Amino acid sequence: MLGRRRNNMLPKRLEGVLLLLFMLMVSNASGAFVGVHVGTGVSDLPSPSDIVSILKAKRIQHVRLVDSDHKMLVALANTGIEVMVGVPNDQLLRVGQSRSTAADWINKNVAAYIPATNITYIAVGDEVLTTIPNAALVLVPALQFLQSALLAANLNTQVKISSPHSMDMISKAFPPSTATFNSTWSSIMSQYLQFLNNTGSSFMLNAQPYYGYVKGQGVFPLEYALFRSLNPNSKIADPNSNLFYTNMFDAMVDAAYNSMQAMNFTGIPVMVTASGWPWRGARNEPAADVDNALAYNTNLIRHVLNSSGTPSQPKNQVSTYLFELFSEDRRTGPVSEQNWGIMFTNASAVYSLAFEDVAANNTDSPALRGMFCVANSSASHSALKQSLDWACGPGSANCSAIQPGQPCYKSDDIVAVASYAFNDYYHRTQTSGGTCNFNGTATISSTDPSHGSCIFLGSTGANGSGNGAASGPVSQDSFASGLQSCWLAHLVVLLPVVLLL
Ligand SMILES: *[C@@H]1O[C@H](CO)[C@@H](O)[C@H](O)[C@H]1NC(C)=O
Ligand SMILES: *[C@@H]1O[C@H](CO)[C@@H](O)[C@H](O)[C@H]1NC(C)=O
Ligand SMILES: *[C@@H]1O[C@H](CO)[C@@H](O)[C@H](O)[C@H]1NC(C)=O
Ligand SMILES: *[C@@H]1O[C@H](CO)[C@@H](O)[C@H](O)[C@H]1NC(C)=O
Ligand SMILES: *[C@@H]1O[C@H](CO)[C@@H](O)[C@H](O)[C@H]1NC(C)=O
Ligand SMILES: *[C@@H]1O[C@H](CO)[C@@H](O)[C@H](O)[C@H]1NC(C)=O
Ligand SMILES: *[C@@H]1O[C@H](CO)[C@@H](O)[C@H](O)[C@H]1NC(C)=O
Ligand SMILES: *[C@@H]1O[C@H](CO)[C@@H](O)[C@H](O)[C@H]1NC(C)=O
Ligand SMILES: *[C@@H]1O[C@H](CO)[C@@H](O)[C@H](O)[C@H]1NC(C)=O
Ligand SMILES: *[C@@H]1O[C@H](CO)[C@@H](O)[C@H](O)[C@H]1NC(C)=O
Ligand SMILES: *[C@@H]1O[C@H](CO)[C@@H](O)[C@H](O)[C@H]1NC(C)=O
Repeated sequence: MLGRRRNNMLPKRLEGVLLLLFMLMVSNASGAFVGVHVGTGVSDLPSPSDIVSILKAKRIQHVRLVDSDHKMLVALANTGIEVMVGVPNDQLLRVGQSRSTAADWINKNVAAYIPATNITYIAVGDEVLTTIPNAALVLVPALQFLQSALLAANLNTQVKISSPHSMDMISKAFPPSTATFNSTWSSIMSQYLQFLNNTGSSFMLNAQPYYGYVKGQGVFPLEYALFRSLNPNSKIADPNSNLFYTNMFDAMVDAAYNSMQAMNFTGIPVMVTASGWPWRGARNEPAADVDNALAYNTNLIRHVLNSSGTPSQPKNQVSTYLFELFSEDRRTGPVSEQNWGIMFTNASAVYSLAFEDVAANNTDSPALRGMFCVANSSASHSALKQSLDWACGPGSANCSAIQPGQPCYKSDDIVAVASYAFNDYYHRTQTSGGTCNFNGTATISSTDPSHGSCIFLGSTGANGSGNGAASGPVSQDSFASGLQSCWLAHLVVLLPVVLLL
């Protein structure tokens, strides 16, 4: 589709990409966070103080509790960790039916722990309208009663109140521009949004691309669900807004924004109260595995901490609670439901998720010194061109050195230029699952292509023979395996027709 462009080595778009990078640096100041969800359906839940030790070790600064367990609230005191407490669904009826019960709830579960414990949010119920519809009528009264009680306790500026919703509340979530809330709940949603608008609270969304991917039954590529951005030709387009989506998470959040907009509410931010990926499933749940869970959660953290927002709301960053700290073996449903945790209860990691400052480390990987990801000179020029566009665009490779006037610019040598971009992408992303593949147009080499002042990442300064010492032998297989790069070029055409999620 881009093939018509003239044989212009440096895509015009490159300038746009660089400009965009600059804008991101400026706008990133607003600071979205990634917190973690701690469920209670765990048979051998560690003690509150052990849980807090784990949070501290992982440098987790925001935690969502599903209830208001008093021992947890005590353990979280004076830690600096921000806490979201929950009114569990089984307490909702009482709180929503009685103003005094709501006041009592605030006093016993919130006011009693502030300021030592930094409670900043109350999540009232969870997916109430879709899981316990018979309690729908008390949802907004519960929010209002709790808010009055906060006001009375003079805590209304410290603590905000909202209620998490499932994606199932949204009809026609794809394309996002057509999304609306299920009209069965129009009147309640309208009151709920009015409440959020009045109190300056966020819309809470449980956004789970895992379910979107599984329910899509093959319509959505796994890469799309895992934030492994697609080739530009297969990015998923929203035909009404002309916005392009490189990942399902953004599409889900935009579906929530658009559903609110359809009810004339435009200023309410979205907060994602649960998002993650199961690491184990039954035989018929092949997407639930460690590789995918690691990729999803790593990319989610990076995306949230590092991104500028969604395509429709580029200025609104979306704080997100990772789902979840421990797998909840007491949850019902398929095997995957019991295996979303990132930690075992003995405090060892299920997989090596670098929760800490993963977003800050988009730098050269020391493990790859002396190894280079270069363009396959036998690949066709048009295929190399496509891959180059991808690397410098969605792949976020640093392509400034191959611009005119820069050291690696070669107007007549697409193999050299593409090699630079492929190698830059690979070195920066390999630790988080990036591969040297580029639709079969790239390959690993131990020959340093650096020349003059054009230095490739991974260069040891030495050249050709005798520089291999810094890197161990690496089998070609391990590079191919990470990503089944079956870019689906026909997606743009296919997806607008599909009203899924
Ligand atoms: C609680 O968290 C808020 C929001 O980050 C912060 O402004 C405040 O200083 C924190 N309070 C305490 C006591 O740590
Ligand atoms: C809307 O919600 C109602 C009640 O839960 C349900 O029966 C209906 O299937 C939902 N509609 C859509 C489009 O999801
Ligand atoms: C939401 O609140 C803003 C002020 O904060 C107000 O201007 C706007 O009209 C409100 N929107 C609705 C739909 O009530
Ligand atoms: C939103 O505003 C438009 C224009 O004022 C109005 O026609 C429409 O009925 C409103 N929609 C809702 C759901 O209130
Ligand atoms: C994330 O940050 C890195 C380094 O600051 C930057 O190169 C990259 O483009 C950013 N990605 C996004 C999606 O903002
Ligand atoms: C922690 O528990 C997991 C799962 O039960 C087990 O595989 C692992 O070996 C344990 N680690 C330690 C250090 O005991
Ligand atoms: C990120 O880089 C810093 C120093 O640059 C290092 O201390 C830290 O361990 C790195 N974090 C990860 C997750 O690699
Ligand atoms: C390079 O591309 C050619 C043609 O597509 C292919 O036959 C060959 O296997 C590739 N080489 C490598 C090392 O991937
Ligand atoms: C991109 O590479 C150039 C050198 O080619 C360097 O000056 C610049 O700092 C790099 N930008 C980023 C965001 O890494
Ligand atoms: C490395 O060797 C290649 C040829 O093998 C040469 O083209 C290149 O200039 C050399 N790079 C350096 C930094 O000496
Ligand atoms: C990937 O390569 C195949 C041929 O090897 C080609 O048909 C396809 O269009 C390429 N896809 C993309 C998105 O570049």
